[in-house]
Amino acid sequence: MNSLHFDRHRRLRQTANLRAMVRETHLHVEDLIYPIFVVEGKETKQEVRSMPGVYQLSLDHLNDEIAEVVELGIKSVIVFGVPAEKDEVGSQAYCEHGIVQQAIRQIKAHYPELVVIADTCLCEYTSHGHCGVIENEQVVNDPSLELLVKTAVSQAKAGADIIAPSNMMDGFVAAIRQGLDEAGFTHVPIMSYAVKYASAFYGPFRDAADSAPQFGDRKTYQMDPANRLEAFREAESDVREGADFLMVKPALAYLDIIRDMKNHFHLPIVAYNVSGEYSMVKAAAQNGWINEKEIVMEMLIGMKRAGADLILTYFAKDVARWLNE
Ligand code: PBG
Repeated sequence: MNSLHFDRHRRLRQTANLRAMVRETHLHVEDLIYPIFVVEGKETKQEVRSMPGVYQLSLDHLNDEIAEVVELGIKSVIVFGVPAEKDEVGSQAYCEHGIVQQAIRQIKAHYPELVVIADTCLCEYTSHGHCGVIENEQVVNDPSLELLVKTAVSQAKAGADIIAPSNMMDGFVAAIRQGLDEAGFTHVPIMSYAVKYASAFYGPFRDAADSAPQFGDRKTYQMDPANRLEAFREAESDVREGADFLMVKPALAYLDIIRDMKNHFHLPIVAYNVSGEYSMVKAAAQNGWINEKEIVMEMLIGMKRAGADLILTYFAKDVARWLNE
């Protein structure tokens, strides 16, 4: 009869239930980490100009925000601080009463089970906006490490469950691991922003965190987007130095790197779906050009498929709602 032989892939796509049965990748609410910006000073809830739906919150508004996050089933938040005062050496990053330390204490007092991640960097706290110490207009590595260790230890003292260093200084995992251990925090894991590219996708974040560099750029410490082998070198040293999670950042334009990291390392891989990736979707959705929900779910499932175990995303609350529908 029919002499034509070919595969019938469509057999497994006939109904929604059948498609659900053969689906290879899943997104769960447990995969999500929600970023929060806490601003020091008087009562405020200010929407970030370039990030609709994302707010700078004073401590007064923090509990309501966390209540919503917990109610949605999200297990983890990462806290970024916007201090009232900045200086050359970012002292508010490691001040015992710094805004992030206060926020962490407050969250843990009310929601002890929520996993609170502290972003460990200096750029939000330095007057020049760089992630380390400046000498002769250069970001110097080793003096920066000392301040990063102080920052991490103060965050752990405040109750942070995970320390997430994002500064891209060499040796930051080794230094922070040693500092945490010496201060009695051997049990606190390090989520290393191991593979962090110098990316234009961070633009809106720098509005949210008020952390744009005041001169130059971050290309002497963040990676060149053209490089792949360098990602292995970065991740290898962080694994050797004691990292517990490896992060790739940004996510969308770096799905190949996420896959590489998943294939070669045996730590949980975190994808950071960064601010620019968020704002592009929001802007197009506000223009009615795309279906926001479908686009976001497709982006996030793409990151999971690429190998991400966890996704840090400004869409976390929306996604949790959609998953619960
Ligand atoms: C800080 C830091 C940055 C982001 C998180 N922590 C960016 C930067 O280098 O300015 C960006 C996150 C985002 O764009 O969502 N060192």
